[in-house]
Amino acid sequence: MEATNLLYRDPALYDVVQSDSTSADLCQTLIEQHRPDARTLVDFGCGTGRDLEILAERFECIGVDLQPGMVDHAHQVRPGLDIRIGDMRTVRLGKRMDVVTCMGNSLAYVHDYEQISQVFATFAAHTRPDALLVLCSPVAPITRTEPTTAAVDTPRGPATVTIRHEWDLRTQINTMHRRWVLPWGDEAQDEIRRRVLFPRELERYAEGAGFEVLDMTDGTGAGPTGQSAYTVARYTRA
Ligand SMILES: C[S@@+](CC[C@H](N)C(=O)[O-])C[C@H]1O[C@@H](n2cnc3c(N)ncnc32)[C@H](O)[C@@H]1O
Repeated sequence: MEATNLLYRDPALYDVVQSDSTSADLCQTLIEQHRPDARTLVDFGCGTGRDLEILAERFECIGVDLQPGMVDHAHQVRPGLDIRIGDMRTVRLGKRMDVVTCMGNSLAYVHDYEQISQVFATFAAHTRPDALLVLCSPVAPITRTEPTTAAVDTPRGPATVTIRHEWDLRTQINTMHRRWVLPWGDEAQDEIRRRVLFPRELERYAEGAGFEVLDMTDGTGAGPTGQSAYTVARYTRA
């Protein structure tokens, strides 16, 4: 995964590309709505800690990510955050929190049924009674196949990126092919494979790990209408 994604090889560029994201604000709104007394939070697949930086203004936070390059970058640019290297399939921090989050489609990088169950077991292993899970993940395929091109302002000048999607119904994996033309003229290719879990599948995984799903929303107050959705669940197993 690391080798094929330019943004993971260049976490500073990842932060630039994601800079207009509102996911942390939305996550906070969902927590206020469902668990207003929450004080502690763990974010699995936290990447460079861009959401965690905002959430840490309100909660005592720990972040976990698989890739040392993302975590090193987080330590450099967000030195105040507690971000650790770990695999959300297996990591055990020995702490239980009021909120568990997994944002920015991180769950979609785990493709296999058994391993997805392991991730939900990790969520459960870090929850206090009545804790909240906030998960942002792909719930529907991208079936558009024609490529689109966009300009991206990077710290080193303007780049362009051409994106083409491929959907494999058999595996429920969406592959995003990206071709970058970088400010200094070099080209780079990406291939990002994300597993779609449809709403009823997500519900099944959550319930199997002891969570009751409270809400599934596109962020506007409506149900899941787009390609990604926010799932909010409460840990009900004693
Ligand atoms: C698209 S990024 C999202 C990062 C962050 N949540 C955000 O919204 O900016 C996906 C992240 O998931 C992490 N990831 C993928 N599989 C993981 C695993 N098994 N355990 C921990 N992190 C994982 C990747 O290293 C990557 O940083």
